[in-house]
Amino acid sequence: MCGIVGILGRGAVAGSLVDALRRLEYRGYDSAGIATLEAGHLTRRRASGKLRNLELRLAQEPLGGAVGIGHTRWATHGKATENNAHPHASAKVAVVHNGIIENFRQLRDELRAKGHIFSSDTDSEVIAHLVTQGLNEGFAPVDAVAASLPRLKGAFAFAMIFEGEENLLVGASKGAPLAVGFGEGERSGEMFLGSDALALAPFTDTIAYLEDGDFVALTHEAASFKDAAGLPVERRRIKTPASAFLIDKGNHRHFMAKEIYEQPEVVGRTLAHYLDMSAGRVALPFDLPVDAARLSRLTICGCGTAYIAGLMAKYWFERFALLPVDVEIASEFRYRDPPLDAGGLTILVSQSGETADTLAALRCAKAKGQKVLSIVNVASSTMARESDVVAPTLAGPEIGVASTKAFTCQLAVFAALALAIGRARGAIDGETEARLVSDLMAIPGLMAQALKCESAVEALARDIAKVRDVLYLGRGTSYPLALEGALKLKEISYIHAEGYAAGELKHGPIALVDGDMPVIVIAPTDAVIEKTVSNMQEVAARGGRLILIGDEALSHDFAGEAAASIVMPNVAPDFAALIYAVPIQLIAYHTAVVMGKDADQPRNLAKSVTVE
Ligand code: F6R
Repeated sequence: MCGIVGILGRGAVAGSLVDALRRLEYRGYDSAGIATLEAGHLTRRRASGKLRNLELRLAQEPLGGAVGIGHTRWATHGKATENNAHPHASAKVAVVHNGIIENFRQLRDELRAKGHIFSSDTDSEVIAHLVTQGLNEGFAPVDAVAASLPRLKGAFAFAMIFEGEENLLVGASKGAPLAVGFGEGERSGEMFLGSDALALAPFTDTIAYLEDGDFVALTHEAASFKDAAGLPVERRRIKTPASAFLIDKGNHRHFMAKEIYEQPEVVGRTLAHYLDMSAGRVALPFDLPVDAARLSRLTICGCGTAYIAGLMAKYWFERFALLPVDVEIASEFRYRDPPLDAGGLTILVSQSGETADTLAALRCAKAKGQKVLSIVNVASSTMARESDVVAPTLAGPEIGVASTKAFTCQLAVFAALALAIGRARGAIDGETEARLVSDLMAIPGLMAQALKCESAVEALARDIAKVRDVLYLGRGTSYPLALEGALKLKEISYIHAEGYAAGELKHGPIALVDGDMPVIVIAPTDAVIEKTVSNMQEVAARGGRLILIGDEALSHDFAGEAAASIVMPNVAPDFAALIYAVPIQLIAYHTAVVMGKDADQPRNLAKSVTVE
């Protein structure tokens, strides 16, 4: 959700700002811009649309200057025009902002009355003018920022530079992440600000995160942090592994395709982190923050695909750990005031570890005395830092906006947790655990086999690309997967899709069934396959366009009735969803590609949703 970067460099920084923005583009791509101090004067280049447009602009009108800030936008206030693109500036200050300033109208009116002229529809511009007002009143730049911060309501991270101040870069963070990077070796004395460590990875792997309410003044000589009370503080420098990851698409056309194909490897890596493969048991690399045997229930919170991973996990915790589970959409949970037992456990699931609603749910659970465990893909994220225990997914950076490998890695972590808690509660014996661990160990290989369905999916995608609506059906763990299939298709192809529990078909959606709308049935051979088959018959009996994702035997049985079949390898039923996730991801991806949509950067969406 908006990416920001700032560089206090030794030479021209425009190119490095754009490099960093490229690594942040997943956070928003409605417009982009940079500002630098050219010979001490604030100068900007901005462009609506993707970063490429800014690059073209800079090729025609290059920008010099050794200190600068950059932004890639996901619009909240004001359309995605060049005028609304960041950096926003007055004659004295330029700012890039991620978040929402909730009281911007009130501040804008107040500043207008003092003669400030606003030139955008954004909430962010008010930050530049508020700080400028402080400068007008005689404050030094850092003091003007300090005086402005308490007046800003809402969530923000911003980076700011000042006319004539070539040795100053200021950052502030409240409810949105901001990292400081420290140049070393050849880059000694250079300082950086970025929305995440990944953006700064080409420049440095030494990072310190601002804590909630902090602001920092960077010069070539020092980083001076102040906390929410305005008192000087030190923030710990850490080494980040982010630089180890190359951000490229390999041989794939899109990051999404690359990430789908990475799944056998990254799911294998994640499972290896949680399983003792030779002993055939789960071996969590941390102690649970609660006594699992005494837990009376478990709460799981997340948004979007992460929430769907939680829905899937419910089946596993109930089955293997005999543990009641509430799965909650974080944006509802945080405002619902749910009663929670002190000493109970809440699990937060998030790829980014920064999603505003999930983070608020974490804080809400903690305030009610719950222990919190977060399953995150970004180990240095705010959620990771605020949790009692972090269970990492080892998916590596996920750049495609539609979550794929992070989802299956979340499932892998959940499966291991369900077995570990099940063992602690005496709900499964050693033999059952060994069988289930062996099933889990088979998953990476089976995922690799599942990827072989790609050419069949490509053919199917050409048909799906022509329709307006698609229905996904599944029972058991295939039900959350039906929700995920529909979400994925909607996100990147813009085709309307819905996921339903197959048993619900006859309670409403069957009215939609006709010869046009594809009904995609996720049907692994499991305990409920006969019931799913009955639902498929109901679709076929009404002339519905049945698309089957199942094993060889089922495809054979439905050869006459299904309009198309995507054949999956035979899999053990409990964790089949991890394998069947592959074709549902590929269906969405190829449909988007056939339709000429940008699978990596779908319209209106962004990764890492740091606003409510
Ligand atoms: C869907 C998708 C989103 C995210 C959701 C939560 O493909 O990517 O629905 O799952 O925005 O994001 P995280 O996991 O970062 O909290």
